[in-house]
Amino acid sequence: MRIKIGIYLIAFLYLGLAIFMNPRLVAQTLTDPLELIVLAKPKKPVEPYKKQYDFHKDKDYFTYNIPIWQIALSSYKGRPDIYYLEIGVFEGRSAVWMLENVLTDPTSRLTGIDLFLDHLQDKGETIKQRYLGNVKEAGGEGRSSLIVGYSQVELRNLPLNSFDLIYIDGSHAAADVLEDAVLSWRLLKEGGLMIFDDYYLQRNLGQTNETEPMPAINAFVTLNRKSLDLIHRDYQVIIRKRARSS
Ligand SMILES: C[S@@+](CC[C@H](N)C(=O)[O-])C[C@H]1O[C@@H](n2cnc3c(N)ncnc32)[C@H](O)[C@@H]1O
Repeated sequence: MRIKIGIYLIAFLYLGLAIFMNPRLVAQTLTDPLELIVLAKPKKPVEPYKKQYDFHKDKDYFTYNIPIWQIALSSYKGRPDIYYLEIGVFEGRSAVWMLENVLTDPTSRLTGIDLFLDHLQDKGETIKQRYLGNVKEAGGEGRSSLIVGYSQVELRNLPLNSFDLIYIDGSHAAADVLEDAVLSWRLLKEGGLMIFDDYYLQRNLGQTNETEPMPAINAFVTLNRKSLDLIHRDYQVIIRKRARSS
């Protein structure tokens, strides 16, 4: 009996010492913020778009990300056959910027998914029509598709390993963000980029854990850390899917 207690005591002390001596063991808990990597600081450009679009002036959830996207997506600019998937297109601010700046080759394609929820006084159908009009104005009509529905359902119908770039900006409930990430990861090609929005949403809105993307993004990145590189982590998180051999 004494020997048994002695063994347990030694094991307990050893584990405690290992955690104390190795901060990595502590730092890898799922709720820790990820390492801070800042490609550029968010800033709203004076002229974010080349053309005039129908956007609600008080509902800009995107343009301050442009300095970061310009750097992160520079190698995709103008390349043929770039397939972009956006979850949560809303009025199309990010989708239109992608059409104007990255998906400029006529063979590149945009796939959007949205539920088109009512946003205050604007009804979902109004937002959908605004999105379609903006995509048409940006020249994306013939090379884009729109899926209306829950991303957690619709992502299951898309082909595996088929997208170069995926932007996750739909539901911000932690469980939904995690499901979007898991389902989208299989749709992303090796070497492709995945962007998450609103890592600090809770800090902004004072919401509870269930309605913030941070724990979902932390969990996803931590569990998949051997198959991805963290490219940027500030208000947005950008990861690259490693090629299997690397
Ligand atoms: C913050 S807005 C997206 C902003 C947009 N990316 C832009 O650049 O303006 C979030 C969008 O996600 C949609 N959404 C919310 N939950 C969703 C879900 N479960 N599936 C699909 N879309 C969803 C909403 O209807 C809304 O239009």
